[in-house]
Amino acid sequence: MPAKTTPGKQPQPLSRQRLAELLNEDLAREYQAIITYVVYSQVLKGAEYMNIADQLEQHAKQELGHALIIARQIDYLGAVPTTVPRSVKISSKPKDLLRFDLANENETIRNYRERVRQCEQLGEFAMAEQIRDILVNEQDHQIDLATALGIDPPAVT
Ligand SMILES: [Fe+2]
Ligand SMILES: [Fe+2]
Repeated sequence: MPAKTTPGKQPQPLSRQRLAELLNEDLAREYQAIITYVVYSQVLKGAEYMNIADQLEQHAKQELGHALIIARQIDYLGAVPTTVPRSVKISSKPKDLLRFDLANENETIRNYRERVRQCEQLGEFAMAEQIRDILVNEQDHQIDLATALGIDPPAVT
């Protein structure tokens, strides 16, 4: 008896066009990260947050670097980089701000890990390498935020 196939359930084959769409979602997250770190680094008040506020300023600059790298990859794939950031949350409570940042970094890390695999699937090894470098930075951001919150960096699966 031949094995049954369920064509509807097969994952869509990845195309360069689809990869560009996914990178545009990454770019929207990078814009969001730039805005959140610019704003949060200035509104975090209190002696206990001085150190993390300085770190957030550094994150803001690194996120701009990431946005430029991702935009370049999108252009290389023949697509147009997005102009629209993901939405940014704000709160008057410092811990909320750090929690928002940490949640965003977790989502970013989850996506870039997937993106490295997808780049390799398409034979885009140099692109995978660039995203790996960004991933190293994002994991540092995650550690900075978790440390400031007094928790272990969460496992991202
Ligand atoms: Fe980033
Ligand atoms: Fe980050």
